[in-house]
Amino acid sequence: MQGASPMRRGPRSVAAATKHLPISGRSGGRGTKERPINRPMHHRPVLARAVSRLAAVRPGELWVDCTTGFAGHSTGLLEQGARLVGLDQDPDALGHARETLARFGDRVNFVHGNFRDVEQLLAEVGPVHGLLADLGVSSYQLDRPERGFSFQAAGPVDMRMDPTRGEPAEALIRRLSVPELAGVIRRYGEEPFAGPVARALAAWAAGPGPFDTATLARAVVDGLPKKAAAKRRHHPATKTFQALRIAVNDELGALEALLDAIPRLLAPGGRALIISFHSLEDRLVKRRFADLSGRNRPQAPRRGLPPPPAPPAEFELLTRKPAVADPDELDDNPRARSAKLRAVRRFTADEMGVAA
Ligand SMILES: C[S@@+](CC[C@H](N)C(=O)[O-])C[C@H]1O[C@@H](n2cnc3c(N)ncnc32)[C@H](O)[C@@H]1O
Repeated sequence: MQGASPMRRGPRSVAAATKHLPISGRSGGRGTKERPINRPMHHRPVLARAVSRLAAVRPGELWVDCTTGFAGHSTGLLEQGARLVGLDQDPDALGHARETLARFGDRVNFVHGNFRDVEQLLAEVGPVHGLLADLGVSSYQLDRPERGFSFQAAGPVDMRMDPTRGEPAEALIRRLSVPELAGVIRRYGEEPFAGPVARALAAWAAGPGPFDTATLARAVVDGLPKKAAAKRRHHPATKTFQALRIAVNDELGALEALLDAIPRLLAPGGRALIISFHSLEDRLVKRRFADLSGRNRPQAPRRGLPPPPAPPAEFELLTRKPAVADPDELDDNPRARSAKLRAVRRFTADEMGVAA
């Protein structure tokens, strides 16, 4: 899948480019190794019903699941009749998805990579009818101490979703100055005590060790004022761990690149669905979808002058308000509490009033 012919556009080229989807069994990415893993017994993807309704898959359509993970949503799309490219930056997750989705044969193909590069990764395939991204880390990644996301159990301070590249969290903590660390913790963790926590992390890094996620979590707690730590509903290190994870994986940068790619990637009539789990992500998705669907008026060039006329919108907003979990789903899966699903659909040439 790597290497690049420019993508062709239009529904015809989708059909042509994907008839012989050339990527069966491939997983790109240097040094990628898919390891055998213990899979979770019952995996229920978040907002599955809303995804199914908004995706409205027609049999034979080509979809890309940018975050295949444990293949819950990928299974749903395939069961609706889609052909699918399953993308994930975590080789372990892809190994699992490959097993779970084996029954769909050559209707599904796998790519190891970051969705920030989705255009290059799909260059040989061409435009798609649909794109789904279910952002963030999976509970499987969170629950495995050796991946370094967990403050409950000791593991290496890593936090990379793709362990084949990038800088582990411990290296990031050691590289950044205290003000830079505080900035990361404030911006990505919305931690009001970012300064004291950053100083505590620097002291942890300069200390005698051991340097693992359990000692790191304790350092964060020690850096917080006692009363503030005691009042928190979640573990007091949650905000700082979230901030480090977002920074290590450049999650917001990757999301912006994905949002940039949507107009070039989607065939006319195609849909993009994005599930976010915190306000930093949701804000980006909401704004970009509003831009695409012409809901943000252009700015006036100068005060007192009228704004220029808006160009015709190329997308329809399918979710004025985001889809969220209903009480039944929340009972089953508390992680769904913060999930927000937003979706857009690209107009067809007919709808745009352009001769096909
Ligand atoms: C919330 S889980 C997805 C769960 C999946 N939808 C399911 O039904 O099982 C997020 C997955 O996205 C992957 N991921 C997160 N950011 C990514 C990125 N920028 N590029 C590729 N994969 C990413 C993670 O490795 C993880 O496996």
